[in-house]
Amino acid sequence: RPHPASHPQVEDVPLLRGSNCRAKGAAPGFKVAILGAAGGIGQPLALLMKMNPLVSVLHLYDVVNTPGVTADISHMNTGAVVRGFLGQPQLENALTGMDLVIIPAGVPRKPGMTRDDLFNINAGIVRTLCEGIAKCCPNAIVNVISNPVNSTVPIAAEVFKKAGTYDPKRLLGVTTLDVVRANTFVGEVLGLDPREVNVPVIGGHAGITILPLLSQVNPSCSFTSEEVKYLTSRIQNGGTEVVEAKAGAGSATLSMAYAAAKFADACLRGLRGDGGIAECSYVASQVTELPFFASKVQLGRGGIEEILPLGPLNEFERAGLEKAKKELGKSIQKGVSFINK
Ligand code: NAD
Ligand code: LMR
Repeated sequence: RPHPASHPQVEDVPLLRGSNCRAKGAAPGFKVAILGAAGGIGQPLALLMKMNPLVSVLHLYDVVNTPGVTADISHMNTGAVVRGFLGQPQLENALTGMDLVIIPAGVPRKPGMTRDDLFNINAGIVRTLCEGIAKCCPNAIVNVISNPVNSTVPIAAEVFKKAGTYDPKRLLGVTTLDVVRANTFVGEVLGLDPREVNVPVIGGHAGITILPLLSQVNPSCSFTSEEVKYLTSRIQNGGTEVVEAKAGAGSATLSMAYAAAKFADACLRGLRGDGGIAECSYVASQVTELPFFASKVQLGRGGIEEILPLGPLNEFERAGLEKAKKELGKSIQKGVSFINK
């Protein structure tokens, strides 16, 4: 047994007839680990990943409470076999053999804080977890959720470079919540079903670095300048809207779990070889002079297959891009220096 407080793992069930609980003939799926699985995002994300038919094995790792979360999730009669891992000594077992690792570990904001205020605690957490990934599943696709994403993705890249395992095609910062929010708010303004709306959101994942391209909304539409100002500001401040509404109890967790599950599903469909999967993500990039940038990327068997061009930007968006790049550059440098200091 990995931990005395742990619930029975599949391997411990005495009367098991197969090698695991999967139904005979079930399609082989992917192995996914969630690091920070007992948290506000981690728990609903674990629930959603347990419901994903592409997942055959789901590893739930955290420094607290994974036995309870794992016992609970493991009773769902869906295909994935669930295993729990508690604390640093179990990190390597949690990671070994994984195809996709999702990282929502770390502290969330309280009202009055910026995402960068989380750097001091979360940078070290992301470093430790990525050292584990480099050692135990260097070929896994990594989805980074922990804030400040603008810095934690460069931190992950530097850790992987040091370990000699870095493949920029497999490291993706999760900015899907910005797209999810943009689709919802634009849908509200235009009176459209948000599921039918697709807004590219580029740049990064904090304040003015979040740059919705309202000139490229699909289905094609036009906005008044008042609508553009309102929508841009609401999308850029969506996280703060939730932090303030939660009044000290954390930041977005449920909408984030939805967004992370959507993004993870896109990565898994890419791994499976499905074509035509394009999602916005914060990745190593050459679309601007910055080493990392969020934009639409095409996903495939190796992770990122292609970084798609930004497309034509209008004057308002070009001005926003210049401001975003200034702030983004500093956040990237801060992450890189944290590892190389
Ligand atoms: P939370 O505090 O509810 O949960 C975080 C979990 O991480 C906890 O269970 C904690 O025990 C765990 N943890 C802490 N240190 C760990 C370590 N070393 N190894 C493994 N697990 C560890 O916070 P939350 O609301 O789930 O948010 C988590 C992070 O996600 C925050 O940094 C938050 O800012 C960020 N976030 C990002 C986005 C995004 O769009 N990318 C959206 C929302 C939140
Ligand atoms: C979000 O956008 O909701 C997250 O980045 C959490 C936060 O701190 O706003």
